[in-house]
Amino acid sequence: MDVIDAIRSRRNIGRLEGEVAAHTIEELVELATWAPNHHLTEPWRFTVLSGAERERLGRIWGEIAADAQSLAGSARDEAIHRDVQKLLRAPVLIVVSTRTDPDPVVAEEDFAATAAAVQNLLLAATAFGLGAAWRTGRIVRDPVVKRHLGLDEDDRIVSIIYLGHPSGPPPQGRPRNVDVVLRWYRS
Ligand SMILES: Cc1cc2nc3c(=O)[nH]c(=O)nc-3n(C[C@H](O)[C@H](O)[C@H](O)COP(=O)(O)O)c2cc1C
Repeated sequence: MDVIDAIRSRRNIGRLEGEVAAHTIEELVELATWAPNHHLTEPWRFTVLSGAERERLGRIWGEIAADAQSLAGSARDEAIHRDVQKLLRAPVLIVVSTRTDPDPVVAEEDFAATAAAVQNLLLAATAFGLGAAWRTGRIVRDPVVKRHLGLDEDDRIVSIIYLGHPSGPPPQGRPRNVDVVLRWYRS
């Protein structure tokens, strides 16, 4: 698949299955790090969770979220169960984070570079015939979650990439209307 087809056919896939080999994940991460990066700061980190590690994270987050809502008893158990299930929607989770430079301009550019790295990874996964989803939510801002993942509190999680094999063809994307977003200045 060439890059043009990958760009057009990549979709956020809700449910993914199967296994993904470690060498494939390593290659995807290597491809991600070809992203543009001002001053070559290499701000990105990729933390891979598979197997029971997904459930461990889901439980930690579920308990935090349930406590924030003051849930108790079976309501608490059910809410935690739902959060665990969410993290089991793919066999592999890649938490893509970026460091936060003390200089806000560098920090902003590092965040942008890391977002570009995420897109590289998503496109490469599409080209490999894999499916992926870019997800965030409140979980990405939680300090306890960051600590659990070995991240610093001021690191920012740009994406939790859900990765696996799609069970069918990707849904069609909606048509694009370039006229709405494109402005020309030419004389
Ligand atoms: C910064 C960012 C955060 C996102 N967070 C979520 C998320 O938490 N849950 C989700 O289902 N999709 C999330 N998405 C994916 C978008 O919802 C998705 O890209 C959009 O619906 C367009 O669908 P497509 O990617 O299949 O074209 C996120 C995308 C970006 C760029």
